[in-house]
Amino acid sequence: MHIATQERIVRPARNIYGSLRLPGDKSISHRYGMLAAFAAGTSHFTNFSTGADCASTLCCMEALGARVNRLDNGTVEVTGVGGHVTPSNQPLDCGNSGSTMRMISGLLAPQEGSFTLVGDDSLSQRPMERVRKPLAEMGARLTLTEGHAPLKIEGKPLKAIEYTTPVPSAQVKTCILLAGLQTEETTTVREAIRTRDHSELALRAFGAKLTRTANSISIAGPQALHAIEAAVPGDISSAAFFLCAAALFPGSGLVLDSLGMNPTRASLLDVLTALGVHINVLNLEEKNAELVGTVQISAPPEGLGTTAITGALAAQLIDELPVLAAIAPYTSGGIRIRDAKELRVKESDRIALVAKNLRAMGAEVAEFEDGLDVPGGQTLHGATIDSGGDHRIAMAFSVAALRAESETLIQGAESAAISFPEFFNLLDLVAER
Ligand code: S3P
Repeated sequence: MHIATQERIVRPARNIYGSLRLPGDKSISHRYGMLAAFAAGTSHFTNFSTGADCASTLCCMEALGARVNRLDNGTVEVTGVGGHVTPSNQPLDCGNSGSTMRMISGLLAPQEGSFTLVGDDSLSQRPMERVRKPLAEMGARLTLTEGHAPLKIEGKPLKAIEYTTPVPSAQVKTCILLAGLQTEETTTVREAIRTRDHSELALRAFGAKLTRTANSISIAGPQALHAIEAAVPGDISSAAFFLCAAALFPGSGLVLDSLGMNPTRASLLDVLTALGVHINVLNLEEKNAELVGTVQISAPPEGLGTTAITGALAAQLIDELPVLAAIAPYTSGGIRIRDAKELRVKESDRIALVAKNLRAMGAEVAEFEDGLDVPGGQTLHGATIDSGGDHRIAMAFSVAALRAESETLIQGAESAAISFPEFFNLLDLVAER
């Protein structure tokens, strides 16, 4: 099969200035789309993620009997199956989306029928044993090929479990909770490091009852879900590219409104503050239990300082680490990243690709099994960037390119559309050249 790849030139910028409203959060859109498709009734979502990953979730749910309409005003309308999916005789294509595959597997394992989940080349290499194991403990019949997709499910009633996740993963937590929602008795997931809690908040918004302690979440099944009306907050992981870009230019000024401020997702603001960036959060409000606010950011005149990202912080910032590493050479003291081994099993090996591309731009960088040391005070030149078809690598190096001495060619730039199709257009809007 021939897959079209696009190259994109990113020229150095003088400054980042402007005001943007970003498309809806990918993690929240996956959950709203999946739960609405499983619930009884018709839900409506404004500002639903425009990324291809969330379209994969909606397509899979349509194949399972839900109805999805995109209304003229951009609202996504989802009519759910009322708790019982229709088995599809075609494989369910999760595309590039690990969230789709891992979360749907929990939803389908207790349903009646056979299901096969497939994905693209990248997704077919990502670890799926992490969902097979807890689901098998619940009694599910789920098979993989050497730990990978295709993931085959013979649905059957499951039993509740108590499970401690061995690696911090919101996708795995969600997978277990979605199976627990349909199981007699109480299922509990414990995590050593608290991961994003969008599933817990979304399940409650759709009418489910859950109980939470500092390090666990329990759901008593079976429970039915009802439809909701919701506005999806702007995606803070997409915002990260613009926040980091603005951080690079003394004199920058950027306002991002209606941005998701869920505390399990917003640690980037703490890291940027530690680097010396000025940040104000205004108009904080709660929508369906998700915090939303307006973020104003400006870079310090004296330039960025230094910081280390390790432990729980690394897990919470896992999606933002590539762009933080990509701006690290422009800080004064560099950035040290550890405890981020999970980066190696994302859409690409993000540690290896960040190191390779930083070196291509002339930077010095030390690679570790679980992180990177990127010294500060470096000058980078433009280069050809290998995105590896990974959206976050393509966007991270487009940001690094803004402060390079010459223009940069991003290979596989189309991959940005996995999470953020508007990325390059919006970057051109706020980058002053
Ligand atoms: C996500 C969880 C994270 C993250 C991914 C989205 C989610 O993955 O990297 O982009 O929506 O739950 P893991 O659960 O594998 O850490």
